[in-house]
Amino acid sequence: MTTSAAAWSARSRAAVWHPCTQMKQHERTPLVPIARASGSWLYGFDGRRYLDAVGSWWVNLFGHANPRINAALTAQLGELEHVMLAGFTHRTVIELSERLAALAPPGLAHAFYGSDGASATEIALKMSFHYWRQRGEHGKDRYVRLAGGYHGETVGALSVTDVALFREAYAPLLRAHPVLPSPAVHDAPDSAAAQRATDDALEALERFLAAHASTTAALIVEPLVQGARGMAMYPPRYLAQAHALTSRHGVHLIADEIMTGFGRTGTMFACEQAAITPDFLCLSKGITGGYLPLSCVLTTDQVYGEFYDDDVSRGFLHSHSYTGNALACRAALAVLDIFADDDVIAANRATAHRWRRMAEPLLAHPRVRAFRQCGMITAFDVEDAGDGFAQRFAVESLHRELVLRPIGRTVYFMPPYTLTDDEFALLVARTGEVLDAC
Ligand SMILES: Cc1ncc(COP(=O)(O)O)c(C=O)c1O
Repeated sequence: MTTSAAAWSARSRAAVWHPCTQMKQHERTPLVPIARASGSWLYGFDGRRYLDAVGSWWVNLFGHANPRINAALTAQLGELEHVMLAGFTHRTVIELSERLAALAPPGLAHAFYGSDGASATEIALKMSFHYWRQRGEHGKDRYVRLAGGYHGETVGALSVTDVALFREAYAPLLRAHPVLPSPAVHDAPDSAAAQRATDDALEALERFLAAHASTTAALIVEPLVQGARGMAMYPPRYLAQAHALTSRHGVHLIADEIMTGFGRTGTMFACEQAAITPDFLCLSKGITGGYLPLSCVLTTDQVYGEFYDDDVSRGFLHSHSYTGNALACRAALAVLDIFADDDVIAANRATAHRWRRMAEPLLAHPRVRAFRQCGMITAFDVEDAGDGFAQRFAVESLHRELVLRPIGRTVYFMPPYTLTDDEFALLVARTGEVLDAC
């Protein structure tokens, strides 16, 4: 006897505590049990299908069940699934570290691995603080963050995240790191509004650093796009000048490219567009093409050198059991092979251009405002969204075979890069229908 979708949903509600979810809502809105997936589509147990237009929380780059990633993982299973990375090493983690260093902005030759994005944030925060401490600068124990920024939800990462809904319950646990105005706006990154916000944000950063550099370890930013803020975008100029300011004032720059990395903003890494090398580059999500949890912090010789010592206690004594997992690293190598073999960044430039044209019917929709695109991210705001808009929109989308999960009144597309033009046309047409229905 096969289990029905409704039965799977009920069993999941009883046994699985789902992330970022008020579980009671699933009394009214059933969970969507997925039986299998292929390309851009998820398939339910009831025969229904859904276009994964948000890349399964921004992780999927080359479609589900990608034959090349599958083959790499199958081969890896026959060689080595995992070995602890303290005292041991293996081929895939070495090759991945070398290739990431070659692809990243110059000078980031040392890779430290974690699992999820938030663990990369924790690693960068700890490394930055510890670096200054090793140099005798014990007072540098604060981070400065941008309004609306999101860096994950473990306690350290949450303390530099600025999303009230996620922070409120845990406020007593979180250190009050200063928040600065963000350059990001709900508008195109080259708009007048973005330029004004960038000027204001840079002025505020300069004033802050002049007064507080001696107590600040690092500035943490999401380069070019603040995803959780609702795909708010800003020009590369902010990054370039923020980098110059932090360097001048002896404060680290942590570039959280957990969402923007691996081609999302049109270049391999968003930092490239500002021609900067941050002190720490945090990567995750697309790193394995959406297959396995893996994150990585790349850093400089200078940071690495400060920990390199005969004294064990001067080392970076941080670890996760699955640090540098061989299967996850092999998936990441397969992803990098696809980038190289298919010249993905160049192909995406053409795709983004076409998608912009194909999205014109949405631009013409009377409720669509602030249509914006940055590389492979497309977003717009909805006028008169009203209470509960995001939830209503998500449910109506599912009725039309789409996975779309607006953030507030912002609707965005972040599909696999392998989405076909026919699939994008379907996405645009049905998004228009959903807009009419909500
Ligand atoms: C910019 C950014 N940083 C950090 C994270 C946290 O990553 P994870 O959910 O894998 O912990 C996210 C997740 O959305 C993110 O977008």
